[in-house]
Amino acid sequence: EKGTYPHYMLKEIDEQPLAIRNIITKYKDENDNIKLDEDIREAMKDTDRIYIIACGTSYNAGLVGKQLIENIAEVPVEVHIASEFLYNMPLVSKNPLFIFISQSGETADSRGVLVNVKKKGFKSLTITNVPGSTLSREADYTLHTHAGPEIAVASTKAYTAQMAVLTLLAVDTAQAKGMKLDFNPIQELGIVATAMESMIDQKEMIEGVARNFLSVTRNAFFIGRGVDYYVCLEGALKLKEISYIQAEGFAGGELKHGTIALIEKGTPVIALATQKHVNGSIRSNVQEVVARGASPCIISLAGLEEEGDTIVLDEVHEHLTPLASVVPLQLLAYYAALHRECDVDKPRNLAKSVTVE
Ligand code: M6R
Repeated sequence: EKGTYPHYMLKEIDEQPLAIRNIITKYKDENDNIKLDEDIREAMKDTDRIYIIACGTSYNAGLVGKQLIENIAEVPVEVHIASEFLYNMPLVSKNPLFIFISQSGETADSRGVLVNVKKKGFKSLTITNVPGSTLSREADYTLHTHAGPEIAVASTKAYTAQMAVLTLLAVDTAQAKGMKLDFNPIQELGIVATAMESMIDQKEMIEGVARNFLSVTRNAFFIGRGVDYYVCLEGALKLKEISYIQAEGFAGGELKHGTIALIEKGTPVIALATQKHVNGSIRSNVQEVVARGASPCIISLAGLEEEGDTIVLDEVHEHLTPLASVVPLQLLAYYAALHRECDVDKPRNLAKSVTVE
C-alpha cells in the first residue's frame, strides 16, 4: 500500500536506505562477514568470464556491476542487452557464468537467453526481487535483492538493491579467491544508506531544481565519465519514461564527436561529477556545453564539489557512488513528471514487467 504517499514511485525512492540496510542484514553472518551460498561462490571462483544479461534499468545496474566485479574481484565481465544477445550471440569463453538481472524475474527477452544458455550447458545465476519467479526457478542459482514489492513502473529501489547485491557478490568472490580487500562492504553500504537519506531529506530543493530545469523543456542531456556515465543512462531512462522528455545519457568525452551539435540556448545538461580521476575532464565538458548556451545542473560528491554545483552528495566509497548519485536523478524525474502532470506510476505505453518478446 502507498499509505500517505501520493505515488508508489516516491514511496519506493524513500525506501531505498532501508532496502540497503536490509540487504546487509540478510547477507552477513554472525561474525559480520559477507557470506553467500557456497555454490555461488564456487561458480564465481571457477568462471573465466561473466556475462551479465538484462533489460532496461536492470541492464543499467549490470553496467555498474561489471565495474564492481572487475574492480573488486578481478574477474572479466561483459554486459549484454538480452534482446540483442538473443539474436546476435557473441563468442563466449570456455567456462562462462551467466548472470541474469531482473526485478520481476519474468522478462521474456532475458528468459529467451536463459533457455539458450541452459541448452548449451552453461551455468546461470539470477539476481531478482521475486525469488519464485521464472528466471529464478530456471537458473542454477538465485540471489534475492530483498527490496520488497516494487509497484511503480519506473524502477528505483530494485536498481539500487541490485547494485548492492552485486557489490556483495564481488566481495564474496574476492574473498573466495583469497584476495586482500581494503573495502568493508558492510560499513561502506551503511554509509551509502545514510547518504541516500540525506539526499531524500533534500527533496524539496530537488523539486525546485526540476521546476527550473525540466518543467517546459523538450529535451535534456545527462553527461558523465566512468560509472557516472552508466548512472547517466539510468537517469535519462527514468526521465524519459515518466516525463516523456527526450533524454539521453552521454559519455562526457563523446560530446565533441557529435552530440554537442544538439546543445542550444537553455538546453538542460545534467552532469555527474563523483569520480576523482575524471573530475577535471567532466568539468571541462560542462564548460564546453555552457559556452554553447546550455543550462547546467551539476551533481557532485563532497570533496570534489566546486562553487556553483547544484546538488552535492555526501561522501561515499568510490566503488559505490552510483547508489547515491542515482537518488537525485530519480527525484528529478519524479518531480519533472509531476510538474508536467504525467501519470507517474503508470506511464503511457509501458508495462511493469515485459513478458512478451
Ligand atoms: O523486471 P526486469 O528488471 O527484468 O525489467 C526490465 C525492464 O523492463 C525495466 O527495468 C524497465 O526498463 C523499467 N521500466 C525501468 O524503469
